[in-house]
Amino acid sequence: MSRILVLNGPNLGRLGTREPDVYGSFTIADLQSALSAAAGSVTVEVRQTDSEPELMAWLFEAVDTATPVILNPAAFTHYSYALRDAVAQVTKAGVPLIEVHISNPHSREEFRHTSVISAVATGVIAGFGQDSYLLALAQLTRSL
Ligand code: DQA
Repeated sequence: MSRILVLNGPNLGRLGTREPDVYGSFTIADLQSALSAAAGSVTVEVRQTDSEPELMAWLFEAVDTATPVILNPAAFTHYSYALRDAVAQVTKAGVPLIEVHISNPHSREEFRHTSVISAVATGVIAGFGQDSYLLALAQLTRSL
């Protein structure tokens, strides 16, 4: 494994200015820098989209290229069965996928307590800010 995809769903392009009390002040560009610095020889590719079909296409790419994924599905977490079915294709192909959240959705509004993704993810890390991604990276690179 020499590459990891870090896929981010809707509104996460607004990190840095979006609800900093909840999501901190780091941006997607900061996330790319932090993950690349921690990844050593592994290439980390951070992407963000507000589009469900684009996010699904990236998951299909992960299946077809057997590339491990760190996924923050953002609000899609809570209701997108289409995204869930795409995630299931990744993990059923034996490709690891870790669901991450910056905040702890379980300590927030009730609608955030449900994830339709978690049951088909390899694992879930939530509530550690930007470190949620770094912890997921550490776990994925353990099996390199
Ligand atoms: C989030 C939590 C979701 O409930 C929310 O819709 C997001 C971000 C997180 O990283 O904490 O957009 O996935």
